[in-house]
Amino acid sequence: MSEAKKATARAHPNIALVKYWGKRDEARILPHQSSLSVTLSPLSIEATVSFEGSADRVEINGKEAHGKERQRVLGLIDSVRKPGGLGPVRVVTRGDFPAAAGLASSAAAFAALAISARAAAGLPRDVRQESILAREGSGSASRSIQGGVCIWRRGDLADGSDSYAEQLVSESHWPELRLLVCVVSDAEKEVSSRDGMRHTVETSPYYEAWVADAEVEVTRAAALIRARDLAALGTLAERNAWRMHATALAADPPVCYLRPSTLAILEQLSPARRRGLPVYFTLDAGPNPVLLTLADHESAVAGIAREAGAKDVVHCTPGGDAVVIDRHLF
Ligand code: PMV
Repeated sequence: MSEAKKATARAHPNIALVKYWGKRDEARILPHQSSLSVTLSPLSIEATVSFEGSADRVEINGKEAHGKERQRVLGLIDSVRKPGGLGPVRVVTRGDFPAAAGLASSAAAFAALAISARAAAGLPRDVRQESILAREGSGSASRSIQGGVCIWRRGDLADGSDSYAEQLVSESHWPELRLLVCVVSDAEKEVSSRDGMRHTVETSPYYEAWVADAEVEVTRAAALIRARDLAALGTLAERNAWRMHATALAADPPVCYLRPSTLAILEQLSPARRRGLPVYFTLDAGPNPVLLTLADHESAVAGIAREAGAKDVVHCTPGGDAVVIDRHLF
């Protein structure tokens, strides 16, 4: 290992089309099933890590982090600083989109953090190890190290060393694909994805059925992405999102991430398809749907979302790899 220093990285968030929902190991963040996602450009988060000073300092989006948030960041840092014999750290992260609104901000933050922490500790770039480290901060972050479409294989080993994401295709495979994040609420959600999935695993009678078809859905989704078949992929993504939300709705007590404003957008999609518009949705653990379409139909789809009540529509394309950058945040 070379001399400890300061490093900064930038990562995009991702949106899962076959979702991760439930852990078999809470501490290591090992999932019950594999998942598949598309990296989202231009949204991004930067993180600077520097082993310096006399006490740990963690700043997220301009505010000192406390409690669980700070512990999660320092937990990831400990994975590199303990083996490296490194001292106190200063961490600053900054993003260009609202946190905790179902836009996978933690995925981009922990991916940027994993890369910058390893680089600051003098470790060489290694996408597999970065994916594993990012996963230990937030499961979905394992899929934000590389661009394009990534698959996080659940793995079988108890230590998590075979549970990491790999790229299926790069962002240049399907440049016409558009992902429109429809913001109906940017308020922090009441039940985090972490708590929602734990509660679902523990209490939902539908959970086993959810896990049972996930692996084959990943294989099907991968083939449809290779074939650039939006209609079939969109149908699969909608089915997967409904099933994830169905498991949560069947938990006891139920967890409902959908809002009337979410449904107001979703109910426009079947009529739009009947009019010939290719548009499909997916929905993470929050109220903001993400619409899948193609470049030629992007403005028509955004118009439908706004008319149905979206306060903002963020236009995304498949994003590239997370990168180390020279400009530090402090
Ligand atoms: O990694 P977390 O704890 O933010 O969980 C992400 C869960 C979903 O966003 C709902 C699905 C997914 O695969 O990203």
